[in-house]
Amino acid sequence: MTIERTLSIIKPHAVAKNIIGKIFYRLECAKLLIIGCKMLQLTPTQAREFYIAHQEKIFFKNLIQCMTSGPSMISVLEGENAIYSYRQLMGATNPIHALSGTIRADYADSLTENAIHGSDSSISAEREIDFFFNVHELFSK
Ligand code: CMP
Repeated sequence: MTIERTLSIIKPHAVAKNIIGKIFYRLECAKLLIIGCKMLQLTPTQAREFYIAHQEKIFFKNLIQCMTSGPSMISVLEGENAIYSYRQLMGATNPIHALSGTIRADYADSLTENAIHGSDSSISAEREIDFFFNVHELFSK
């Protein structure tokens, strides 16, 4: 049994749709503990730094625009195989390919406005958690 942490972002368009509770409920049902949480509106500088791996991509500008358009709900999830387990709940990045019943299949509006973000590896999870949270803001069981 591997207990992991992963970063979750409920993106601005999903926050605007008032579905934070619906998404959190799915996490809780999947035994992912929310051990830290904050709502904040990313600045362009923060968004560009967070998504630096995509800076050369054609969609980068649009991604930054979407991610700074309003508040995001950012949380750290902890649980057994949390990284994989959350990505299963999320569904594919492109909602057209997301399996039915996944969060993106149900709540994404487009490929960029795909409702949520989740870390894709343990290295990303560590970087992304450190990007938003300090040790005093996380409350493990
Ligand atoms: P996310 O999981 O937050 O990680 C990077 C984001 O870039 C992704 O979700 C999408 O919002 C966006 N993205 C990835 N690929 C594309 C693409 N081909 N076109 C537009 N946006 C994309």
